[in-house]
Amino acid sequence: MRVLVSGGAGYIGSHTAVNLLAHGHDVVLADDFANSKPSAVDRIEQVSGQHVPLHAIDLCDADKTDQVFAEQPIDAVIHFAGLKAVGESVGKPLEYYRNNLDSTFSLLAAMRRHGVHRFVFSSSATVYGDHAPVPYNEDYQPLSAASPYGRTKVMIEQVLTDTAAATPDLSVALLRYFNPVGAHPSGRMGEDPSGIPNNLMPFIAQVAVGRRDKLSIFGGDYPTADGTCERDYIHVEDLAAGHVAALEHLDSMSEPVRAFNLGTGTGTSVLQLLHAFERAVGHELAHEIVGRRPGDLPAYWADPTRAHEELGWSAHRSIDDMCADTWRWQSENPQGYPAS
Ligand code: WQD
Repeated sequence: MRVLVSGGAGYIGSHTAVNLLAHGHDVVLADDFANSKPSAVDRIEQVSGQHVPLHAIDLCDADKTDQVFAEQPIDAVIHFAGLKAVGESVGKPLEYYRNNLDSTFSLLAAMRRHGVHRFVFSSSATVYGDHAPVPYNEDYQPLSAASPYGRTKVMIEQVLTDTAAATPDLSVALLRYFNPVGAHPSGRMGEDPSGIPNNLMPFIAQVAVGRRDKLSIFGGDYPTADGTCERDYIHVEDLAAGHVAALEHLDSMSEPVRAFNLGTGTGTSVLQLLHAFERAVGHELAHEIVGRRPGDLPAYWADPTRAHEELGWSAHRSIDDMCADTWRWQSENPQGYPAS
């Protein structure tokens, strides 16, 4: 299939692009580089050994989005593009709603015009809200989220569900990611957050490489085994493989819209992840336990049964793999992707 990967220069999009190419698919990238760098596209080409066409457009521009579909036949869309910082979304809600929803509308309109009926959406475990029982199961209702960012994911899932109900032939996979970490094993591709990282793994990696003094652990008094929060960390290469599996399953899906958890099914605490990273680096890393971060849940992880049974996919890389690959990427690219 020829797959349009929106947000294809981003962390998960770039790894998925390489996985698609390795599975014999053609890839067309669309990215406006709002939160990524063009040099990430060079790395996709180096790692895959293939030329990848790029459309440097803002997908909120419906005409430009339509033009991408007019220029070459597209068989499927994997939609990663979007703003994704939970904290920032609280201060800039309109920017988040406009950007994340409008880009989805442009893609759906262009797909309808050009007869494209396969769509894979980058959703998040954040749609389970604050009250779902652990492990999270796809059938849980009602979906909700605690931030404007998270609510864009809930809303887009609803938009896609309504659109599929009204559009014969449209097949949609909603992929609910848990906590993506890790990097390509080549050390050439990885996560490159701009500014101070919001998320745990890139923060630890920047402490290890000397860009930050120490890790602040947000809360040591949670009702968990060691008092720190537990999350379901998933290697970005496993996650990327999950997208390929979902894409290839779309034509035989039992329903027009299906949600799939992409997680490992195991919780790991902040301290456990830190200690695994210390093993990868070979020495201890400076850290201190500070107060809780507002909004954090104590512990959650995926029930990954559905993805295993229906997509034939499961995550198999370990926490040590995640740390070793992140460390290779971070130590070989201390400042992330080069500015170009
Ligand atoms: C993990 C744990 C922190 C940083 C978020 C979004 C979610 C998704 C992924 C995607 C928590 C602790 C963190 C630090 C710390 N978004 N922590 N010190 O919050 O599970 O999920 O990112 O686009 O929607 O909510 O991930 O990596 O921020 O935090 O102690 O400097 O690490 O308190 O327990 P989270 P995270």
